[in-house]
Amino acid sequence: MKTPEQIALHSRLAAVVITVVFAALMIAFCTMAQAAPASQELVQRGAYLARAGDCIACHTAREGQPFAGGLPLNTPIGIIYSTNITPDLETGIGRYSRDDFEKVMREGVAKDGHHLYPAMPYTSYARLTQEDLSALYAWFTQGVEPVHNPNRRTRLSWPLSMRSLMAVWNGLYFKKGEYAVDPDKSAEWNRGAYLVQGLGHCGDCHTPRGIAGQVKAVSERDGGRYLAGATLDNWYASPLAGDLETGLKAWPKDEIVEFLRTGRTARVAAIGIMSEVVGKSTQYLTDPDLMAIAEYLKSLPPSFNEGQGNADSAMQASEESAATRALRAGDTGIPGSRDYLDNCNACHRSDGSGAKRTFPNLVKNEVVNASDPTSLIHLVLAGSSMPSTQTAPSALAMPDFGWRLSDEEVADVLSFVRGSWGNHAAGVSRDEVGRVRKSLAIQKTVR
Ligand code: HEC
Ligand code: HEC
Ligand code: HEC
Repeated sequence: MKTPEQIALHSRLAAVVITVVFAALMIAFCTMAQAAPASQELVQRGAYLARAGDCIACHTAREGQPFAGGLPLNTPIGIIYSTNITPDLETGIGRYSRDDFEKVMREGVAKDGHHLYPAMPYTSYARLTQEDLSALYAWFTQGVEPVHNPNRRTRLSWPLSMRSLMAVWNGLYFKKGEYAVDPDKSAEWNRGAYLVQGLGHCGDCHTPRGIAGQVKAVSERDGGRYLAGATLDNWYASPLAGDLETGLKAWPKDEIVEFLRTGRTARVAAIGIMSEVVGKSTQYLTDPDLMAIAEYLKSLPPSFNEGQGNADSAMQASEESAATRALRAGDTGIPGSRDYLDNCNACHRSDGSGAKRTFPNLVKNEVVNASDPTSLIHLVLAGSSMPSTQTAPSALAMPDFGWRLSDEEVADVLSFVRGSWGNHAAGVSRDEVGRVRKSLAIQKTVR
């Protein structure tokens, strides 16, 4: 039993404790309220940068929570799983300090010291400025919802399973260091170069790779291999350098901007993985940033990639009318023209011109005329849809034909498209189609 004095003492103590706790809370609240506006700005800046870096694309599994990892990435060395980068304390990066985060982004080394595979584009993100790293860190620790989702183990076969090998790889192939401003160029050009080489990691797909999987060039300073076009995951990422027919030489700057914002122009539509890049990343960039990217890309000289045809040779206009005339007359003498009439004509029309921003124009189209037909074959076998963006919400789709056309029919129709209306790219063989079909595991189900 407590005496009345004890009870009074206790309640007085309790009152003191409550007052102290309350005061402490008030102080904490006031300092938080003071710090909040500045850090909120930083968090929002980080959200923008995360989009520019397309972190969500790799770090979100199909049907998974944003940034919670677990997406299997199909790389030439095997399947590598992305990890949980939400601020969950146990399974995410909740225990990462600002320095730990910097070490991942700049060096490819995780908090516990293990080396990451360059499927995580730290080789590009290394170019980030300190301010941008701080903003990204603020977003991933304060803006993103923590999600409990344990990482899946990546199991490559030996010797690639030894992550320490990546330290050797880094020593040989990885150019460390923040983006170095080129003082001879404008601020806009430098902004564009910074975005393309760094967060945008455009070269991770568009630059050809060497024997050890390293990109052959990391910037325009390395010469004509930078952004010279490359094949990955059964798509061909066309050159972004100044080549006439296969690169961006003929594209005005505002067309590059339009493509990155909407995924479609009067000239081409984004397909496959580039459609995803536009949908998840570039559509959110501001106009000045998109213009800066265009400014930089337009300054690149023509590339010199192996296997590139005579890109600057003149187009033959007479072929144009021949194919169109034959299709209109229902004359199917030209190999592949019958398949075109049956499967493609309804949307892409007999003169190949399609319909503006709805069905892409196939005439002098960079995807159609690419030296490497991988994307074309992939597209016809598996189909694709344009990104649905804020400014162009309709996600128009190209149907998949792999289930009803044979390898030979696909080869014929693509050879026809690549040789008609003034296009003059090399034909596509049955074996080339067969290889892509096998690697996509698409069966023909209709006889
Ligand atoms: C092209 C795919 C890709 C993109 C884009 C990408 N990542 Fe990654 N990231 C990965 C993969 C794969 C791993 C795991 C690599 C491994 O296990 O070796 C990883 C690992 C990480 C890790 C290490 C986490 C851990 O487990 O300790 C962090 C942090 C990270 N990424 C942050 C980011 C941020 C921030 C962005 C955007 C700016 C980003 N990533 C964009 C593929 C990607
Ligand atoms: C129902 C309409 C439709 C039909 C039929 C169709 N396509 Fe397409 N095609 C599209 C759409 C829509 C796109 C854009 C897809 C995207 O951006 O992901 C497209 C894209 C393309 C592209 C890429 C152009 C670019 O600029 O990226 C080529 C090449 C192509 N189609 C060829 C063909 C061929 C060959 C056939 C017949 C075997 C065919 N298409 C049948 C609607 C169609
Ligand atoms: C994940 C791989 C990937 C990344 C990252 C990527 N691209 Fe692409 N891109 C492709 C592929 C594949 C194509 C070819 C298909 C198409 O034309 O849509 C392409 C096509 C393009 C085209 C159309 C070129 C043409 O001649 O038709 C432009 C422009 C482009 N990309 C710009 C960029 C820029 C700028 C970046 C960086 C901000 C970038 N891409 C990052 C894969 C990628």
